[in-house]
Amino acid sequence: MKIFESSSALQSWRRELTGRKIGFVPTMGALHEGHASLLERARSECDVVVLSIFVNPTQFNQTSDFEKYPKSWEADLKIAQEQMVDAIFFPKDQSEIYPDGFQYQITEKQLSKTLCGEFRPGHFDGVLTVVMKLFQLVKPTRAYFGEKDFQQLALIEGMVKAFFLDVLIIPCPTIRETSGLALSSRNQRLNADDKALAPKLHQIIMQFEDIRDASRELDEAGFKVEYLVDQQIAGKSRRLVAAWLGEVRLIDNVAH
Ligand code: PAF
Repeated sequence: MKIFESSSALQSWRRELTGRKIGFVPTMGALHEGHASLLERARSECDVVVLSIFVNPTQFNQTSDFEKYPKSWEADLKIAQEQMVDAIFFPKDQSEIYPDGFQYQITEKQLSKTLCGEFRPGHFDGVLTVVMKLFQLVKPTRAYFGEKDFQQLALIEGMVKAFFLDVLIIPCPTIRETSGLALSSRNQRLNADDKALAPKLHQIIMQFEDIRDASRELDEAGFKVEYLVDQQIAGKSRRLVAAWLGEVRLIDNVAH
């Protein structure tokens, strides 16, 4: 398994891979079974699998959230090996991705301003910009994204269409614990009490038909709800939620 710490080394390697089907899984590390499922799918559909691990500073609207983002390089490496990843792009420095100092950005003006974007201003500019840059470096045939970040997935699909990018976006189902809790790197930051409470997020949004009832239940259970809505997103009917448990922000969504 190759590990590239510089963009130029990754690009040189990629130039040699003409005619191969390249599967790409972009991540911020702290890998879990959800990421493993994306890598597994990429492995089964592509000739070469590339994983990127980069905690992207431009998508965090709070420095403390960026600094506290979990990191687990050794465990990530093990998962990458188990999933037979061919290459990991692990930029040694932010300047590998942002030689321009984030002067050039991708901005979407509608969907990105709602839901998570309303509460995390600038978040999706950071996400779209880094994904565009990663796509330019990896030049994937297929890129795999989890449906847990449904708004992110819809925005990336929109960007691919808007800029005629030659990559097929593969949406992959959310992986859950048996309790129903959606796997997320942020779950590692929950304390024991909140970890026990967290599965209620999924249980409650599934249980109540009326979002006002679900919202009240979440409140009573100890969540601070940011949004809970039923809406069409990228042509699909979803129920989407973001809520805080202590200092940890959780998101989830289900077909509705
Ligand atoms: O979903 C994530 O982990 C990140 O938003 C992504 C797509 C890797 C961009 O930094």
